[in-house]
Amino acid sequence: ASLDSQINDPFLLSRPDVHDISATIGKDLVGTDHPVLNSAARYFFTSEDGKGKGKQVRPVMVMLVSRAIMPYENKRGVSSHRLAHILKSQRRLAEITEMIHTASLFHDDVIDDADTRRGQPAAHRAFGNKMAILAGDYLLARASICLARLRNVDVVECMSTVIEHLVRGEVLQIKDSRKGVADIEGYLRKNFYKTASLMANSCKSAALLGENISPEVVDAAYTYGKHVGVAFQLIDDALDFEGSAASLGKPALADLNAGLSTAPVLFAAESHGQLIPAMARKFKERGDIDLALRCIDETDGVNRTKKLAAIHAEKAMDAVMALEPSPYRDSLVHLACRVVDRSR
Ligand code: FPP
Ligand code: MG
Ligand code: MG
Repeated sequence: ASLDSQINDPFLLSRPDVHDISATIGKDLVGTDHPVLNSAARYFFTSEDGKGKGKQVRPVMVMLVSRAIMPYENKRGVSSHRLAHILKSQRRLAEITEMIHTASLFHDDVIDDADTRRGQPAAHRAFGNKMAILAGDYLLARASICLARLRNVDVVECMSTVIEHLVRGEVLQIKDSRKGVADIEGYLRKNFYKTASLMANSCKSAALLGENISPEVVDAAYTYGKHVGVAFQLIDDALDFEGSAASLGKPALADLNAGLSTAPVLFAAESHGQLIPAMARKFKERGDIDLALRCIDETDGVNRTKKLAAIHAEKAMDAVMALEPSPYRDSLVHLACRVVDRSR
């Protein structure tokens, strides 16, 4: 493919860096001699046909950021030998990021009692709750070892903060679903913790692993990841109302059925106060879900959610456009577009 069409497709441009990340995790990073733990931990990392791999958005972001900051390293005359070493550590960071993400999905599907993930049975449906939780813990442990081996304490701090944030986001979600008031700000804060922090801090870490990268560039990487993450979660929450189980690879209307008020509901509740009691009782009474769907329809709640996502995607693009020009920078811009346009 021409360079132009590769820029338009961030997944294509990052393919040489990303294509065997799952295989490396499955083969080299999470193997253990205990057969059950071994197959549970490698559940999403070993299929031949690539099923179960997911979109790998996070590794793609990490590798594109890593390449996009290379003009700065080149300007400072970093040797090609040194550059290859740096790229190897950034690639390991991409693997760590995917391991942390997958660990959180193992736990999330237990908490959410989800049947399917990435078009196959959720890990706890395949191995039982106890093994799924332990396999998630094991992935986190392996990710921590890999992180320590990067020998960069700032990166360790960044990525450990992510784990704290994932837990905090999940707790906030359980807590505010009990409260059920229309509070977009609280909702966005929760989205930062559960989704955006991982993207922000892994992009930041990719920059930190570079040689002599200025604080401005490190900040740009963080800001890019943060806004892509917020946009990503907003679209996820919009798709929950639009997609089908087949298109999503996981159940649709899952949030409402779980009693969660995401952005479309929160927007609708601003002008439809009758939604608030239904939200507070987690849509448990007959007719609550239909009422919510009707109000969201009347107030264009799903499209308003997508518009807010587009605003965050633009902030992400602004951040990354401050970097030196490169195909990788432009591809990051396209990735922010794709996050908003996606259907799964
Ligand atoms: C998916 O959200 C879940 C997350 C983004 C984070 C889950 C975090 C935890 C369970 C805390 C434990 C963390 C670790 C690191 C083990 P969702 O349920 O809204 O999305 P879904 O529709 O994809 O399930
Ligand atoms: Mg879930
Ligand atoms: Mg969840």
